[in-house]
Amino acid sequence: MATTYRNLIGGEWLGPGTRRYLENRNPADTSDLIGRFPDSGAADVDRAVAAAARAFEGWRRVPAPARGDLLRRLGDLLAREKEALAQGMTREMGKVLAETRGDVQEGIDTAYYAASEGRRLFGRTVPSELRHKWAMSWRRPIGVCGLITPFNFPLAIPTWKMFPALVCGNTVVLKPAEDVPWTAHRLVELAEEAGFPPGVINLVHGRGETAGRALVAHPDVPVLSFTGSTTTGAGIGEVAGRMHKRLSLEMGGKNAMIVLDDADLDLALEGVLWGAFGTTGQRCTATSRLLLHRKVHDRFLARLAARAARLRIGDGRAPGTEMGPLIHAAARDTVEAYVAVGRAEGAELVTGGGRPRGAALARGWFFQPTIFAGVRPGSRLEQEEIFGPVLSVVRIGSLEEAIRISNGVRYGLSSAVYTRDAQAAFQALERLDNGITYINAPTIGAEAHLPFGGVKQTGNGHREGGWEVYEFFSETKVGYVDYSGALQRAQIDNYQDGS
Ligand code: UN1
Repeated sequence: MATTYRNLIGGEWLGPGTRRYLENRNPADTSDLIGRFPDSGAADVDRAVAAAARAFEGWRRVPAPARGDLLRRLGDLLAREKEALAQGMTREMGKVLAETRGDVQEGIDTAYYAASEGRRLFGRTVPSELRHKWAMSWRRPIGVCGLITPFNFPLAIPTWKMFPALVCGNTVVLKPAEDVPWTAHRLVELAEEAGFPPGVINLVHGRGETAGRALVAHPDVPVLSFTGSTTTGAGIGEVAGRMHKRLSLEMGGKNAMIVLDDADLDLALEGVLWGAFGTTGQRCTATSRLLLHRKVHDRFLARLAARAARLRIGDGRAPGTEMGPLIHAAARDTVEAYVAVGRAEGAELVTGGGRPRGAALARGWFFQPTIFAGVRPGSRLEQEEIFGPVLSVVRIGSLEEAIRISNGVRYGLSSAVYTRDAQAAFQALERLDNGITYINAPTIGAEAHLPFGGVKQTGNGHREGGWEVYEFFSETKVGYVDYSGALQRAQIDNYQDGS
């Protein structure tokens, strides 16, 4: 009998008002039922927001360094639980253990960074234009933050949002993706163990169309942070715009790796295999286009196709597995539909394109690493985010052409350039339209202490991670103190001489 889980609201573990539950199954073996998690409704979200709003009044008064201390303790607990979290995460999400361990490590790094930020949260003091007057700015918390997170980084992405929000003095309601509720459940349990007061962190499980939608539209949630598809983000943006909410969106990508003719091809080969097929291609930063210089095109492609065809597909917990399954049936349907699109558009299927054979693999949502060559810039295969293990190869003749093609999509998250030419590298850094460019490294692998995000339809101007996210989760307050004992009028009394 699988365990039935509950929501965490105001420090209490509560079943959903709807009395409905969703099954969480292992995507590598759908006969493995992990548990039943609440299919929460608007009333559950209401209760969670009310609890978070009550807790905010106390939490905002806890000194920021003390809030940071709790995050440090939580970081320690995540480190203690790293292996168990990684094992459970692979079971519910599918990516291989090395990756889920990395996912937990990203959460630990984010906790320690946020903990130390509790002793910074810098404001500024600047000179006033008037004598005997002090001018300063500092950060204040905003209120209840609604956090909606995706399946592909079940621990790291919730921590990217939650930890900065908390250290800034906000309280949170987390609605994790319904495919990965177990990891979120453990994260929140560990936060309880670390000693966060009741109501500061609330967890509501459920689907986007119901629980997520209620959180987005809730009048007492002034801040929203969402990672997911560009289509869903557009819908959230409409509501947030109408209600004047602060909103951070982190959405799709169609990231290109450019391999020039002077590149270290061995290095580029390892890079593209990791960038395209790591996490089974289910990253917004995945390498989904390879722009390959014509002078190296044929021999590089031959080596790449051979290596991709040999990648070991299977249960991410089994030793030696290099690529796990897709997250669910609908994800595999989408990937299959794009393979049909590629064929119809006249691209050449070089390897993969179907489900792998074998009885064990038939129980999960597996798909072969797939490479199309001769992909035409402007075609659907080249333009649209697939979120699966499908790489489109485009032949290029110059860096100039590669930059134009890389920039010619509606997304702008990450890019990569393999070259030994410093001029080419810096040209590319300057001219590629995205949030992150890697030189001689693949399009994935952002570090937690640098700002993460993209331009164009990937985001709405905010960044997660690094130092910038603390701006998002706080309001700037300005204070002036005039100790001159006289009325001093800004812009007037200091310019009386008419200059
Ligand atoms: C994502 O691609 O969905 O940069 C997030 C990386 C990870 C996070 C990726 N640190 O690959």
